[in-house]
Amino acid sequence: MPAPMSPARSTLPEPSPDARAHSERVAEHIRAGIAAAGGWIGFDRYMELALYAPGLGYYAAGARKFGDAGAGGDFVTAPEISPLFAQALATQLAPVLAATAPRVAEFGAGTGRLARDLLVALDVRGIAVESYEIVELSPDLRERQRALIADRRVRWLDAPPRHFTGAIIANEVLDVMPVRLFVRGNDAVFERGVALRDGAFAYENRPADPVLAAAVAAIENELGPLPTGYGSEVGLTARGWMRSAGDWLHRGALFAIDYGFPTREYYHPQRIMGTLMCHFRHHAHADPLWLPGLNDITAHVDFSAMAQAAHDAGLDVLGYSNQAHFLISCGLLDLVQREGSPQAASAAQRLLSEAEMGELVKVLAVGRGIEAPLAGFARGDRTHTL
Ligand SMILES: C[S@@+](CC[C@H](N)C(=O)[O-])C[C@H]1O[C@@H](n2cnc3c(N)ncnc32)[C@H](O)[C@@H]1O
Repeated sequence: MPAPMSPARSTLPEPSPDARAHSERVAEHIRAGIAAAGGWIGFDRYMELALYAPGLGYYAAGARKFGDAGAGGDFVTAPEISPLFAQALATQLAPVLAATAPRVAEFGAGTGRLARDLLVALDVRGIAVESYEIVELSPDLRERQRALIADRRVRWLDAPPRHFTGAIIANEVLDVMPVRLFVRGNDAVFERGVALRDGAFAYENRPADPVLAAAVAAIENELGPLPTGYGSEVGLTARGWMRSAGDWLHRGALFAIDYGFPTREYYHPQRIMGTLMCHFRHHAHADPLWLPGLNDITAHVDFSAMAQAAHDAGLDVLGYSNQAHFLISCGLLDLVQREGSPQAASAAQRLLSEAEMGELVKVLAVGRGIEAPLAGFARGDRTHTL
């Protein structure tokens, strides 16, 4: 999901009447949530409802989501572009599995393509994976994954595995976890939440609670005061997720692959409106209050915060680089050459090019009981920038 320009609503594609009716049901559900909370909810709650409300939210209902615009998709992720992504990742997972246990866990498996392609790629490398566990929030996507993957080794879990040994993957999962929005005022920090104005969703600021104020203070301690009026987001849910990995990851490596950058770049004084971005039929826009339930809502990942959360949870940081360096270190160019097709070359271009995913997407590896360096960070390791 690259983050291009934000067009005006009038340039966005017109949703079908059915889609509009679905969005109205989602909006009704969120309005009820706002009323129940006394007239205002934090943006994190809005995002949670718009994306994950059972049977209604963008990820929880039947929208196609993944794939090209012509086929009704809203965005394309790396595993959807080509099996080359899984094949390269397998090069990195193979030694981790050999050193720990032949067990993989994937969070947020989308259509299931990465799981399917990874199992094939690991089989080809002679790694006999014994179990592949998927932790998926969306019941709708779970069903799609079940329909795509005919492999007895795959099972679905309702919660993170316990006492896990092996390799873990989360591709484009942290960027769809709910974020809290803040605005820097003159003397105080405010939380940007969602209220109703004449029945329509509208942003409304409230004084930040101690948790949000502390998160913003930590950013300012590191980078200096943010300018008045500066708005951005903090991914406290993603940090909590990373911290929880410290409880269940017994031995192994976790690869978080996502759009993002270190704190210093994330909260650059010129990035005055944060990184919140929505996707509808391959159009990116910055208005998450528009037609909830029909749009994906994402925010970039603060990888310094993720590394800190991992460290706090007793995990080691094993490597951090952009996707291009990671995939090339994992032998992607050799794989493309071996395949020798124009399709493979064009897929590699999308995965590696700076203008597409190569630079914007990063790979962070953390773990326990694993010896660095990992092959995927042989070139371009930027851990020192976190
Ligand atoms: C943008 S999609 C990426 C899907 C897939 N990894 C890919 O790269 O194509 C985000 C996925 O994460 C899932 N998800 C979001 N939050 C999650 C969580 N806390 N635990 C597990 N899955 C989650 C969504 O339901 C969806 O499957």
